[in-house]
Amino acid sequence: MCGIVGYIGKEQAAPIILDGLARLEYRGYDSAGMAVYDGEKICTRKAIGRLKVLENITRGGESMPGTCGIGHTRWATHGAPSQRNAHPHTNEAGTIALVHNGIIENYIPLKKKMEEKGYRFVSETDTEVLAHLLDYYYRQDPLEAITKVLHRVEGSYALGILFADHPGEIYAARKDSPLIVGQNDTGCLIASDVPAILKYTRTVYYMENQEVAVLRGDSLSFYSMDEEEVAKEPATIDWDADAAEKAGYEHFMLKEMYEQPRTIVDTVSPRLRDNGGEKDITIEELNMTDEELKAVRKIHIVACGSAYHAGVTGKYVLEGLARIPVEVDLASEYRYRNPLLEEGSLVIVISQSGETADTLAALRESKARGIRVLGIVNVVGSSIAREADACLYTWAGPEIAVATTKAYSAQLAALYLLAMKFGRVRGVLTDTEFRSLSDSLKCLPDQIELLLGQKQKIQRFANRYLGARDIFFIGRGIDYAISLEGSLKLKEISYIHSEAYAAGELKHGTISLIEDGTLVVAVSTQPELYQKTISNIVEVKARGAFVMAVTNEENKAVEKVSDYVVYLPGTHPRFTNSLAIIPLQLFAYYVALGRGCDVDKPRNLAKSVTVE
Ligand code: F6R
Repeated sequence: MCGIVGYIGKEQAAPIILDGLARLEYRGYDSAGMAVYDGEKICTRKAIGRLKVLENITRGGESMPGTCGIGHTRWATHGAPSQRNAHPHTNEAGTIALVHNGIIENYIPLKKKMEEKGYRFVSETDTEVLAHLLDYYYRQDPLEAITKVLHRVEGSYALGILFADHPGEIYAARKDSPLIVGQNDTGCLIASDVPAILKYTRTVYYMENQEVAVLRGDSLSFYSMDEEEVAKEPATIDWDADAAEKAGYEHFMLKEMYEQPRTIVDTVSPRLRDNGGEKDITIEELNMTDEELKAVRKIHIVACGSAYHAGVTGKYVLEGLARIPVEVDLASEYRYRNPLLEEGSLVIVISQSGETADTLAALRESKARGIRVLGIVNVVGSSIAREADACLYTWAGPEIAVATTKAYSAQLAALYLLAMKFGRVRGVLTDTEFRSLSDSLKCLPDQIELLLGQKQKIQRFANRYLGARDIFFIGRGIDYAISLEGSLKLKEISYIHSEAYAAGELKHGTISLIEDGTLVVAVSTQPELYQKTISNIVEVKARGAFVMAVTNEENKAVEKVSDYVVYLPGTHPRFTNSLAIIPLQLFAYYVALGRGCDVDKPRNLAKSVTVE
């Protein structure tokens, strides 16, 4: 996730771009850059670090005069944060400059073809291939070149493009990444999000997928990929600036919950490839051959908090799909317990921030013992990403709310991919099973969308529990893993005491805490365990509990013993946690909201725990 701003008109472009980018820093902040047409040529400046650095080196934009320009604040995906990888990227002659948000999934074969044609790449980004492709197709007609390039590209993009020989124009295009176009009396703007341009205009045009916009100082036009002009009506934005940064959502947490479908697409689709009709998993970042993967005898997953909970799910999925033994450890325990690490072990550390002190220490401890470490990390270029032997990035983009939602979902998706890869190379998964898993994986984003659509129903239910003292979450097997995460979400943001229990374990002590009206959330998604969990529900009901069940549509029997049921759409039994977590996140969010808690910044917590 990156931020894009562009301006063309009567004013100086650079200060407007810097001002807009500052309001998009929540989308990325590891480097930034601008390209401005100075009357003769396109000038480009880039800086690593926060936007402030770019502001300083350009003296607030003063050193880049010109009335037509584009800018970018980066959240690294392909290639670590560096000057070379920062946007804008240009063709070799510097006559075409572009900024990009999204992921070009087929950039590797495209890059290879362009290198064969003699193009020289200077960055590690997927974006640079677009600059060279535009150069290759350019015959003085920008629209023609852009549509030709975009026909060849797979993945997602929002683009702002300058052509030196069309100095009075900015070209923009989008597919599956946000981009809006604004207009005022002085000129036209593009931006990834409304807050960037709210100060300059409230008149915006929403671009549809696979549309190209041409912005001039005093006019705007939109085109389809067939270069047909498209008519568009402007919309008026009536949000205040704060609401705009959250895209109209009340909190970042809610916004990030809604970003989960996109996050899963971004994490999965570049790695789940179609090879001539057959699906295959390609995880280039693993840096391990199929033979090396086959030689792994045991996996240790190490992480903290929600990332640890993702690891607990990972254990069930990896053991189930690849029949490989998995141990899961809390990083703070692992680092001091002198773990037994045999040859042939692989350690997987999971971390959103990539800076969690205990997880980093666990990584170092494992490496010092000669064990290969794979990181599943969200922040590109973070300490864990750099120090791990290999790193599988979760492309969730910046997560602002302290309580993780979308990064957790992306971690699950990354673990599914790994489990399928291991299952494949170890010969455990048949072609039919692999196909069915791939199909289920592809359906998850839409199914999550459906569940998010139930937010009002969950809010009404949550409002009945604002005064609860204790809330318990129970489940068996993989449902226990999601109970852990559901319980953590609730307690960290609502400050209601909550515990998660393996459903069969409750009667060994904890059941004494159940009294009249205590809410028990029972998760039951594994058909072979439906009956067992129903028995546990009956046990707590007999002690006066009120039961909310989260289960599959087919498990109607649960209705007879529960007070409230949330049904999940059908998926592969190993992937149910990606769906079950949605009502649990919504429940936690609405309980916290109803109690007047600071949802995005719960007390006593920090987003990144860099101390032991
Ligand atoms: C809970 C939460 C924390 C983190 C934990 C690890 O919502 O966000 O429990 O999961 O602090 O952080 P990372 O993933 O950055 O290592």
